[in-house]
Amino acid sequence: MKPVSISFAEFRSCRLLLGIALALCFSRVSSTTNETDRLALLAFKAGITEDPSGVLTSWNNSIGFCRWHGITCGRRHRRVTVLDLRSQGLSGSISPHVGNLSFLREMWLEYNSFNQEIPPHLGQLRRLRILRLTGNLLVGEIPKNLSGCSDLVTLRIGDNDLTGEIPGELGSLLKLRDFGLYANNLNGRLPSFIGNLSSLEVLFLALNDLDGSIPQVLGHLTNLQFIGIGENRLSGTIPSSLLNLSSLTQFDAGNNQLQGTLPADIGLKIPDLVFLSVLDNQLEGPIPSSISNCTKLDRLQLGGNKFSGKVPSWENLYVLSWLQIFANQLGSGKPEDLSFLCSLTNSTKLEYVGIDRNQFGGVLPKCIGNFSTALILFSVAENQISGEIPKEIENFVNLEVLYMELNQLSGVILSSLGNLQNLFAVELSDNNLGGTLPSSLGNLTNLITLRLDGNNFHGQIPSRLSNCRSLNLLDLSNNNLSGAIPPQLLGLWSLTIILNLSRNHLTGVLPIEVGNLITLTALDISNNLLVGEIPSSLGDCTSLTSLRMGGNFFHGLIPQTIRSLGGIDELDLSCNNLSGQIPEFLTIFHSLKLLNLSYNMFEGKLPSKGVFRNASRTFIVGNNDLCGGLPEFHLPNCISRSSKSKRINLVTLSTSVIFGVLGVALILAFIYLCWFKKTITERVPSSRDDSLPNVSYGALLKATDGFSSMNLIGVGSFGSVYRGILLEVSGTIVAVKVLHLVRHGALKSFIVECEALKNIKHRNLLKILTVCSSSDYRGNDFKALVYEFMDNGSLEQWLHPSATSSHGTELPKRLNIIQRMNIAIDVASALDYLHHQCHISIIHCDLKPSNIVLDDEMVAHVGDFGLAKFLIGSSLDAVANRMSSVGFRGTIGYAPPGNLSLKSRKCIYPKRLLMDLFVRSLVENNNSYDLTHITS
Ligand SMILES: *[C@@H]1O[C@H](CO)[C@@H](O)[C@H](O)[C@H]1NC(C)=O
Ligand SMILES: *[C@@H]1O[C@H](CO)[C@@H](O)[C@H](O)[C@H]1NC(C)=O
Ligand SMILES: *[C@@H]1O[C@H](CO)[C@@H](O)[C@H](O)[C@H]1NC(C)=O
Ligand SMILES: *[C@@H]1O[C@H](CO)[C@@H](O)[C@H](O)[C@H]1NC(C)=O
Ligand SMILES: *[C@@H]1O[C@H](CO)[C@@H](O)[C@H](O)[C@H]1NC(C)=O
Ligand SMILES: *[C@@H]1O[C@H](CO)[C@@H](O)[C@H](O)[C@H]1NC(C)=O
Repeated sequence: MKPVSISFAEFRSCRLLLGIALALCFSRVSSTTNETDRLALLAFKAGITEDPSGVLTSWNNSIGFCRWHGITCGRRHRRVTVLDLRSQGLSGSISPHVGNLSFLREMWLEYNSFNQEIPPHLGQLRRLRILRLTGNLLVGEIPKNLSGCSDLVTLRIGDNDLTGEIPGELGSLLKLRDFGLYANNLNGRLPSFIGNLSSLEVLFLALNDLDGSIPQVLGHLTNLQFIGIGENRLSGTIPSSLLNLSSLTQFDAGNNQLQGTLPADIGLKIPDLVFLSVLDNQLEGPIPSSISNCTKLDRLQLGGNKFSGKVPSWENLYVLSWLQIFANQLGSGKPEDLSFLCSLTNSTKLEYVGIDRNQFGGVLPKCIGNFSTALILFSVAENQISGEIPKEIENFVNLEVLYMELNQLSGVILSSLGNLQNLFAVELSDNNLGGTLPSSLGNLTNLITLRLDGNNFHGQIPSRLSNCRSLNLLDLSNNNLSGAIPPQLLGLWSLTIILNLSRNHLTGVLPIEVGNLITLTALDISNNLLVGEIPSSLGDCTSLTSLRMGGNFFHGLIPQTIRSLGGIDELDLSCNNLSGQIPEFLTIFHSLKLLNLSYNMFEGKLPSKGVFRNASRTFIVGNNDLCGGLPEFHLPNCISRSSKSKRINLVTLSTSVIFGVLGVALILAFIYLCWFKKTITERVPSSRDDSLPNVSYGALLKATDGFSSMNLIGVGSFGSVYRGILLEVSGTIVAVKVLHLVRHGALKSFIVECEALKNIKHRNLLKILTVCSSSDYRGNDFKALVYEFMDNGSLEQWLHPSATSSHGTELPKRLNIIQRMNIAIDVASALDYLHHQCHISIIHCDLKPSNIVLDDEMVAHVGDFGLAKFLIGSSLDAVANRMSSVGFRGTIGYAPPGNLSLKSRKCIYPKRLLMDLFVRSLVENNNSYDLTHITS
């Protein structure tokens, strides 16, 4: 990369001299004056609707415009040459009058919220060399007139909402070196005029809808270093001329429909390659062994293709950090398949090894113990690997992810695994592992996912697993585990996804501690030897959507508390000894898709409403004393039974009359109370029951030091957010969002947000503590929302730390890839919850880094529901929502997990977020992929 900066510096100084000469000539004939510039800047300011940090207050007539914030003027002619307002949170439109800034050479407006179209008047800026509009909300087409900026060297309009084709007129920008239109909605073909832009060094068109084939002529770009065309719909083969360009350092064509093979000599033709990704295409043939000659290679991403044959050895890849060859047809099931792993011991920076979903056979060689200790991910899942897990993996002290499921591994889990303190995902499912579960697993306090199902583990479930305080998912099903369910384990309220203990030989009762699992989505304890009654505390697990307890020896009644599990869609209590009536409340479980009560001892009348109207969803066979119900169930008629025992019936009749009267009275009282209460509380959304009391304006005034600017931590579309200390409640630190009620829509946003947050609760949603709806001391309406305070601020501050960050809190301004993945997963689980697991689907509609906050453990929380929409009857059901496959399994980095890219981009916008989290980190934050040097 060095040579570029040097040559560019030279280029720059030449241009400077030329520029001055031209300026001198031009200023004599030019009719424009510095007054034109002043007026144009004021027009630009007038187009801005929001300026949260007030950078434009200095744009006033008390000082000359050359001293306005973000303005640089030429030394002699005092005309504006640079307009730099990047990362200032500005919104509004870009005024067409900027086209009058005829001396402008650089325009930096990236990472703001400029909306509307790019004014074609920019095409008048003949001296413009740098135009950077990345990371805004610009819409419409790319103006053809930009071809007028014939001096343009950098054109970056990535990460906006631009549509249409890439205009052919841009083919005249022959000086262009850096051309970035990534992450828009551009369509049409990848234009072949790009082949004429002979100075091009960076071509970044990823994440659009471009189709057709990659033009051969790109092979003429002998200065090209970076080509990013991933995540489009490109087809055909990769032109061999392109993979001949010795200047290339980074090549990314991942997530397209490309076919063919990689040329055998690729490593000899492109020796300086640092990054090579063809992830998720349809490429085939062998992996060229010449890649081993690319001694600077850092990331090699060949996953998700049809590569086959033997994997070559890589001993010259000294700086390789990512090796992703997962999901191909590599290997042949033979013992020597994995010998290439030993060649990786020379790669001292190795972090990610993903070779899962291939046909590798043999055993894991002991040499892997010599892998770099930097190793973070080791995934060999879904192969045909046999033998034991080498004890050498205890050397991977930084390992965070270990995937070995679906192989033929045997032996035991060594207790030294418990020393790998950084592990957060361990999946060893579906192997032939045995022995007992080491209690040292309880040392893995960062563990989020633990899957050990489908093995032959025996003995007890170690109660120390309850020390894994981060565990979201625990699957121990399908083993030979015995003994009781440790009550401590059920105290693990971090469990949110699934607790699966099914198909073991567990004995004893279901401990009442099960009621602690209030955020758990699925609980499966079926097919064990459990006894006793169903604990009524189970009714506290209100997040459950699936509850399976079949195939045990539970007896007694279904507790009435189960009534509160209204969100459940699968309830299996089959093959137990449960008795009594089938509770009527099951008829109002509207999301119930499967109800299995078969082979129990239920009696009495089968309800005929709700799920009981559908014989394909309800299973009740093997209960001999049931009657009534729909004819499809073939049950005897209830009346015929009543004649058998008249006396009992008389008793029940009289009791039911008494209870009936009582019931009616109760219902009336209830309705009265509710009605009464409703009329009181209707206007102010009630605060949550487990929260702080409603607070007054005065209390918030005190808490935030009179809403002082010292405590201002952010300004959003409808309000300002302050940090505050609520003295009333033992000094809880809170974030107070004060609504700007004058702003159109703010009140609506307040009501929407209250409504959205009233009934939902999730680990990754920002918790609202209380609301304040009153009037301030001047009698104006005052509305505020009080949230938990998040120590690590918003994701925005991490991703786009603005140059003029106003607050002294020094954040370490980089997120590592694991943190980024965690954030993506956190956000995905919040969205999954909102879309699929709430009673009604909620679409956030304003998902962006500034609305995601990070707590002291860097757990992401989605907040700001001011623009949320409610979908009654989820139309999003079609969208795959399986959390387990959000998996970062191998597909780390450039390729965003497919399930997250919900296509309805109008409202939900996770793609942009993923761009922020992953792509930018790859190409802009990481030193080795730093592109900014080219223009700075
Ligand atoms: C910019 O130039 C055009 C054409 O010369 C003129 O009509 C317009 O008023 C100018 N804008 C400002 C803000 O001076
Ligand atoms: C004008 O700009 C100056 C310099 O930044 C600033 O101190 C002053 O407050 C501004 N005046 C107004 C009226 O905004
Ligand atoms: C604009 O030009 C006039 C006359 O050439 C000069 O007096 C004035 O200082 C200039 N203004 C700025 C902001 O440079
Ligand atoms: C490429 O690597 C192979 C094996 O590592 C070596 O024999 C060969 O000389 C290398 N070729 C070049 C051109 O460096
Ligand atoms: C590591 O590199 C050295 C050369 O630097 C080479 O001799 C050795 O064979 C390599 N080791 C492996 C395991 O490939
Ligand atoms: C890990 O677990 C073992 C056995 O349970 C225990 O003796 C040891 O102290 C633990 N180590 C750490 C670092 O917590």
